[in-house]
Amino acid sequence: MLNSPLTSVLFVLLFVLSPIYGAFEYMQLVLQWPTAFCHTTPCKRIPNNFTIHGLWPDNVSTTLNYCAAKENFKNIEDDTKKDDLYKRWPDLTTAETYCKQHQNFWRHEYNKHGKCCSESYNREQYFDLAMALKDKFDLLSSLRNHGIIPGRGMKYTVQKINSTIKKITQGYPNLSCTKGIMELVEIGICFDSMVKNVINCPHPKTCKPTGSNEIKFP
Ligand SMILES: *[C@@H]1O[C@H](CO)[C@@H](O)[C@H](O)[C@H]1NC(C)=O
Ligand SMILES: *[C@@H]1O[C@H](CO)[C@@H](O)[C@H](O)[C@H]1NC(C)=O
Ligand SMILES: *[C@@H]1O[C@H](CO)[C@@H](O)[C@H](O)[C@H]1NC(C)=O
Ligand SMILES: *[C@@H]1O[C@H](CO)[C@@H](O)[C@H](O)[C@H]1NC(C)=O
Repeated sequence: MLNSPLTSVLFVLLFVLSPIYGAFEYMQLVLQWPTAFCHTTPCKRIPNNFTIHGLWPDNVSTTLNYCAAKENFKNIEDDTKKDDLYKRWPDLTTAETYCKQHQNFWRHEYNKHGKCCSESYNREQYFDLAMALKDKFDLLSSLRNHGIIPGRGMKYTVQKINSTIKKITQGYPNLSCTKGIMELVEIGICFDSMVKNVINCPHPKTCKPTGSNEIKFP
């Protein structure tokens, strides 16, 4: 029955005709360094570790934002899940209870980015994936082991930070600095479409300090 030619033809037609929502070519985990972020934005607290800004599925030639998807964001109810998520993906601009209750940051990131990988990850899986990817690397300790240590007023060249992250993750990152003061504020780590291996970030942003070519890691 299932192998009848008609069924096959119908199946193929259905597949070809249905628009593929939530398909992407690579996945970027965007981490932020709270100390630098909080130098430009008022924060309620400043954790001494990288935190998640977002998990962004994208195509190499187009940015994917606000994709059509089956599921909209729904507040996460499970307390353990909320705690796990808050630990890694806090909204630094609001208090913990407010962040967990209203979940504005998580809603914004899911609706803008999470829906663009809905083909492979439902809402719950998207947040689980973000946490798992964050935990794959202890970037803070690894950078420290390579002599890149925050909070000492030291400056590092963009090349040194770029090549050190490549050593740690196996892929060149996407780097952002705060405007003017040139502090390292975000590190994007890119994964292939299976979200298995780290790849070099396609057309990465970089920090362009004037003069010395050095940036701060506050
Ligand atoms: C993104 O890439 C995937 C895989 O190549 C493709 O199926 C999808 O249509 C692309 N989305 C957009 C908006 O170009
Ligand atoms: C920082 O985050 C990483 C990855 O989530 C984790 O392995 C590490 O234990 C954290 N370090 C501290 C000091 O909390
Ligand atoms: C690199 O990261 C910044 C945020 O830190 C983001 O605005 C930019 O779109 C990213 N670039 C790419 C190509 O993903
Ligand atoms: C990191 O180095 C690679 C190889 O030289 C280069 O292609 C890439 O643009 C650099 N990335 C940043 C963020 O400076």
